[in-house]
Amino acid sequence: VSGASSTIQCDTSAYEEAVETVELDWDNLGFTLVPTDYMYIMKCSEDGIFSEGELRRYGPIELSPASGVLNYGQGLFEGLKAYRKEDGSILLFRPQENALRMRMGAERMCMASPSVEQFVEAVKLTVLANKRWVPPTGKGSLYLRPLLMGSGALLGVSPSPEYTFLIYASPVGNYFKEGSAPINLVVENDYPRAAPGGTGGVKAIGNYAPVMKAQKKAKENGYSDVLYLDSTHKKYLEEVSACNIFVVKDKIISTPEIKGTILPGITRRSVIDIARAQGYQVEERAVSVEELLDADEVFCTGTAVVVSPVGSITYLGRRVEYESKGVGAVSREVYSALTRLQMGLAEDKMGWTMQI
Ligand code: COI
Repeated sequence: VSGASSTIQCDTSAYEEAVETVELDWDNLGFTLVPTDYMYIMKCSEDGIFSEGELRRYGPIELSPASGVLNYGQGLFEGLKAYRKEDGSILLFRPQENALRMRMGAERMCMASPSVEQFVEAVKLTVLANKRWVPPTGKGSLYLRPLLMGSGALLGVSPSPEYTFLIYASPVGNYFKEGSAPINLVVENDYPRAAPGGTGGVKAIGNYAPVMKAQKKAKENGYSDVLYLDSTHKKYLEEVSACNIFVVKDKIISTPEIKGTILPGITRRSVIDIARAQGYQVEERAVSVEELLDADEVFCTGTAVVVSPVGSITYLGRRVEYESKGVGAVSREVYSALTRLQMGLAEDKMGWTMQI
């Protein structure tokens, strides 16, 4: 396997024999789990050093009932994608950024974490072992889900004595059931997503279950998802359950600044840089919920959602529709620039893609 580092043990014989093709309806991929062939797993013990990672057949893992992750939520996850180029080769998009964000989260959660090199190497191995599951160009991508968890047993509240780093993969298409059509959001007033000083700014597993109540209510009322406000003033935009938010007015693009309660999205950062390179003014600042009422366009960004146009937002019972519910010009432009780069259809002047 190209790219295998000497510190990572893996038995490649099994997957080299795997048939290259897979029976899947590539035209109808959504964001649901499609189990693939292999997962990557690496542990570290009390010395905090990760070593001896390996590829294993995808399947259940053994975990102590007293593990830190099960009892105290000491866990982080990441999400990144591998794309197939038209020549058949595979591109990763900014995997080092996910590695760095996991390290930042690990610091906040008192966890040991793999080095950037170990993380990226593990991602490459996982993709190569599951390469038959990378969709054809333009049909989707292979979503990689790195997990870091306190796997050691303990009883009192304290950092786990052992950590497990794991990556599994699933081919995916569009995140929202609307496909690439605009989504309808509702602003949540009762259940804030994150509080100052908390873990909203890192990808802690515990950030996601608390949004489900608001999300369930929203879906029952016909909305696609929920847009959260800051918990202090209930006035400024934060993010949607699984993505960041952008607002466009008079060709100026604004997005909430990163201030500890908002996830520093890698797609968010990339879209800001792409939009600036295309000549747009982009402001990272406190964006008031009132600004939604007269915005020209709103869109969401994230690894899973890519760039998703927003057709309407409902705030305190008032529904605002954008661009007659169509896809806004700015979101179309940044979506196209980003995805062409990710799929290797445009020259990568940013140096963001990694061929494996
Ligand atoms: C991603 O976009 O990769 C995420 O982590 C969102 C996830 C909760 C689906």
